[in-house]
Amino acid sequence: MLRTALTSQSRLFSSSAARLTKVAVLGAGGGIGQPLSLLLKSDPLVTSLSLYDIRGAPGVAADVSHVDTASEVNGYAADQLDQALEGAKVVVIPAGVPRKPGMTRDDLFNTNASIVRDLAAAVARVAPTALICVISNPVNSTVPIVAATLEKADVFDPKRLFGVTTLDVVRAARFLSGISDAPPSETVVTVIGGHSGATIVPLLSQTAHGKVVTGEAYEKIVQRIQFGGDEVVKAKDGAGSATLSMAYAGAKFTNALLRGLNGEKGVITPTFVKSPLYEDQGVDFFSSNVELGPNGVEKIHPIGPISAEEQALLEACLPELKKNIEKGKAFVA
Ligand code: NAI
Repeated sequence: MLRTALTSQSRLFSSSAARLTKVAVLGAGGGIGQPLSLLLKSDPLVTSLSLYDIRGAPGVAADVSHVDTASEVNGYAADQLDQALEGAKVVVIPAGVPRKPGMTRDDLFNTNASIVRDLAAAVARVAPTALICVISNPVNSTVPIVAATLEKADVFDPKRLFGVTTLDVVRAARFLSGISDAPPSETVVTVIGGHSGATIVPLLSQTAHGKVVTGEAYEKIVQRIQFGGDEVVKAKDGAGSATLSMAYAGAKFTNALLRGLNGEKGVITPTFVKSPLYEDQGVDFFSSNVELGPNGVEKIHPIGPISAEEQALLEACLPELKKNIEKGKAFVA
């Protein structure tokens, strides 16, 4: 049992030399925030964990702080946002409302846009050099909102802002493993574009197990990767969207970021960043493989060779993504 726990922990987190790294979670009391905080407490690269929410964070912090790993944990109440952010190197934001059945991620815009904008303004004021990971939906719009807010405060560094699309990558590996005779470690799929429905573009053709999936099976797995979140929303029947798998994905992405910060080479993962790849088509935020380093984004990789089907998916993605990005920018302007 213990061996299993340790094995799965080391699979989620790889560590290198520990530095002083304070990670703040904004929205730590929520469905994602709580298990994410627990997983970050287990990450040896996190030395201090700062948990903030408009409700419940001190309780979550007291609970998580008893886990016997080296990091210290502090909880902050609604009026203590600035204290929570002081000295943070990484800020992870899962604050905001989740979907209910029948809702798209864009339906969350009205509520989450202002939450994310206000939190970003606080980060700009208190921890302007922190790396920011945005989980709150709609990611395609909330990331441009954070960028525009930081820009207004004159502290935007495109290397330091990330939309977390890791759950799409996690789902793609799991679903492809499910239909092939291989473990998820061998069915890793690069997922590009954005983080909602048609903007999610899995590049199955770039993997050995993915390129042999054709016809109806191909249509089905693409649909499942793009709309996997709906399966969870439906099964939870009004109680929210993915929280546990999202916490896993969020912790996995944060660990990758911390490994890059600590100077580990070759840490590459898809993430939604300010990107030159489709800027000429008015899409200036895009997820593709990004190499992470001591300053955040080290290198944005091109998408590489894709199939005709993937080209069609990309063509459907770009105009929708453009609209989502513009909506986010317009909110701040
Ligand atoms: P939840 O409702 O369980 O938790 C949200 C938490 O945010 C609550 O504890 C709430 O008090 C807190 N909050 C609200 N306003 C805040 C503020 N101004 N400052 C700090 N905290 C605040 O929701 P859940 O399930 O944790 O989802 C959170 C967000 O993550 C949603 O927008 C959801 O759509 C998104 N999400 C993103 C995914 C992704 O792949 N990027 C996957 C799944 C969900």
